Order: sequence, then structure tokens, then C-alpha cells
Amino acid sequence: MERLIIKGGIQLHGEVNCSGAKNAGLPILASTILFDDPISIFNLPHLKDISTMLELLNSMGSEIRFEEEDGIEIDSSSIKKPEARYELVKTMRASVLVMGPLLAKYGKAKISQPGGCNIGSRPIDFHLAGLQKMGAKITTDSKFIYLEAERLNATNFEFPKISVTGTENLIMASVFCKGTTVLRNCAREPEVVDLINFLNSAGAKIKGAGESVIEIEGVDKLKKVGWSILPDRIEAGTYLVAGAITNGHVRVKGIESNLLEPVIQKFREMGVVVNSGKNYVEVDATTTELVSCSLDTEPFPGFPTDMQAQFMALNSIAKGVSMIAENVFENRFQHVVELQKMGADIQLDGHKAKIVGVSNLVGSSVIASDLRASASLVLAGLVGKNRTEIEDIYHIDRGYQCIEEKLNKLGAEIIRQPAI
Ligand code: EPZ
Repeated sequence: MERLIIKGGIQLHGEVNCSGAKNAGLPILASTILFDDPISIFNLPHLKDISTMLELLNSMGSEIRFEEEDGIEIDSSSIKKPEARYELVKTMRASVLVMGPLLAKYGKAKISQPGGCNIGSRPIDFHLAGLQKMGAKITTDSKFIYLEAERLNATNFEFPKISVTGTENLIMASVFCKGTTVLRNCAREPEVVDLINFLNSAGAKIKGAGESVIEIEGVDKLKKVGWSILPDRIEAGTYLVAGAITNGHVRVKGIESNLLEPVIQKFREMGVVVNSGKNYVEVDATTTELVSCSLDTEPFPGFPTDMQAQFMALNSIAKGVSMIAENVFENRFQHVVELQKMGADIQLDGHKAKIVGVSNLVGSSVIASDLRASASLVLAGLVGKNRTEIEDIYHIDRGYQCIEEKLNKLGAEIIRQPAI
């Protein structure tokens, strides 16, 4: 397996560009199934998960043409095989996002059972309950979920718990339903808003973007449009943590501060100076003695679960004691045992972690487990004495475009060692 070798102890300085958001690109790519024309999409990040979604759409019959500047033209108007096969769903759970659009456009879908992943069982019962309420007939066997719907009907559905892709799936399923669909307890994440804005630009009639109640008035068809994907607030937040954890000064360009408010607040509570302007956010920790800061992860607009691991690494070397509560996923502390290998003082108690700051971490050989846990190990490696080796780094490549190139541009010394 490829690994990253990181030399610790270097202050990071400089600017890095933020890429397009993975978690906006995935639903928007899936939603191209709803269109009768080719769609141009720009600012797509070069990530494993995005190529997996493109592979999935292509396997169903979409035609994809790559254009310059991170753009593609995708024509999903003649899907021949509405099926998401096992090896793609296993690689990327977000493959379930094709269910809603396939049912809305073609009246059927066959999806490999998504199974769990490292951060939890990740059920999709809310997705299925909503689609069933809209009239889909759903059967399952050990391998697949089979969905059929002569026609999906507008309905009222309340999510038992906020679900990002659940909200996205039901929005896409409702776009052509005659009448008005009302979805309650919806996810308010910026990536959901980007999907809604994209669909509305193509003629959909969706109200309540960013709110917990979303109303979708059915339309007959969507028109040909182009779209540029929202910047990735989690990637941006990760590079800002890299600046803070190394007592450096880092500016992330191509991001607006309104996407990062709960994260910026926590930086400031830890003593990090945060400035922002048109299209950038920067941290200056050159004179900062990091102070521990507790946090609870919550659905947007709360502190994002996708930044929890990164702030655990930051708290590991801050002065004082912090508590981190992971309230979204049931098992999102895979990074703890690896950070402990590097000398972090962390105790777990159910979904809470107590972190006692230590003066420094020590480089070690650690194993990446999931996307954001891997990022926290890279951040710890930036300050770990001597060098840190991270195995299984394909997790990182799923969500970060050339992470070592961007960090090395800020002064880090990271090399990617090919699989031996
Ligand atoms: C999305 O996952 C993101 N992925 C995740 O990002 C992110 O961590 C998560 O939302 C929370 O913000 C994409 O957008 C592709 P959920 P999703 O449905 O939609 C439970 C990353 O790092 N639940 O909001 O799968 C679920 O178990 C990834 O980029 C059900 O019980 O998450 C969890 O506890 C990781 N039944 C909670 O709800 C369901 O039918 C939130 O899950 C659906 C969800």
C-alpha cells in the first residue's frame, strides 16, 4: 500500500487553493440522471470518490466528456442499466445517491447493499422509508436492494434523524412528482443547498434551501444548464488546522468564511487569530499558545463531524483539558488509538473523548482508517517529533486532492512512498 512519510516540526506558511466540495459534487453528479440533456459541471475535485461516482454513472450508461479547467460534460439521459454494482457501492457508500434520481426518471433501481463502514453502521432506512412513502416498492435480498415505482407521488415525510444524503435522495426523487412534496427535519448543510440551487437553476421548484423544511413542487422536466461546485469547507478547515497546529500562518483561497463559522469560532477559542476576506480565510498562530477547547459535533449549522478528528489532533497539543462529543456517528474515534501511538493523552468514554494536552507528539507508524481520521494523522505528523509514516493512505485520497502537494507548498516535507 502507498504510504506518506511526514517530517515533523515545520511551521507552515503561505497560501493554498481550496478545491470543489466532494459532498456537493457527489449528489450533483447523481442528479444528472434526472436530465434529458448533457450537463457541464465545473470545479469538480480530482478525488477517488468523484471518479467512483463517474464510474458508476458510466456503468449505467452515462456518457462523460472531460473539458478543460476541472470541467466535465456528462450525459445521463439514456441510462440503460439502472444498477449500482457491489464493488462500486462497497468502495463508496454515496453510490446510494443514485436511488432517488433513478426512480424519478426510470421507475426502477437496483443497488448493492451498502453495508457499514469504519465510522458506523451507516443504515439507509430513512432513504428507503421516504421512497416507500412516495410509492416505491422495495424488496431486498442479501446482496441487493430492488426498487420499483410506476410513478412516485408527492408526499409529506419527516426524517426521524437529520440525514444529509437522505435529504438529497428524497429531494431528487421528488423533482417530477405532481403536486407538492414536503420534507421535514432535513439536513441544512451547504452541500445540500448547492444541490438545490443547481436543480432550481435547471427549472426545479424547490423551496427552503438551508432550512429544515423543504418543499418541492413537481415539474415536467429540467433544462440543460452548467454549474460550478461549491468550495469544500472541510478541506479548507483541514488546511487551516495545519496552519494552527504548526504555529504557522496559512491562508486558504477560494472559500468564504460563512461556510466555516462554527470552526472559526473554535479556532478563536483556542487562541488562533482568524482573518477572512473576499474568497479567503486565514489563520495566524505564529504567536499563539494553543488553549484546549471542547466541542460537540452537530448537523449544520453546528460544528461539523467531518472536522472532529482534525480538532482532536489540534487539542492533543493544546494547553489544558478538552472534551469532544461525537453526536452524529456512533464510531468515529478510529483516529484515537493512532494518535495515542504518537503520545496523545486521550481517554474514551462512549461517544465522548477527553483530551489532556501534551507538550509534543512523537512521530510513529500509524494506520489510516477513514477519510477524516487519516487527515488528523497527517496533521499530527506535521508536529510529531522526527517522522511519521501513515499506511493505507487511499482513505486520504478519497477526500483530499493531492494533500501532500498542497501541504508541501506551505513548507511541509511529506513524501508519498509507492507501495513496496
Ligand atoms: C454525509 O454522510 C457525508 N457524506 C459525510 O461525509 C458526513 O460525515 C455526514 O453526511 C454527516 O454530515 C456525503 O455527503 C457523501 P447522514 P451521510 O445520513 O449522508 C444516521 C466525509 O467525510 N442515519 O447525515 O451518509 C447515520 O447512521 C463523509 O466526507 C440513519 O440512521 O450521513 C448517522 O448516524 C463521511 N439512517 C446519522 O444518521 C439513514 O437512513 C447522519 O448520517 C441515514 C442516516
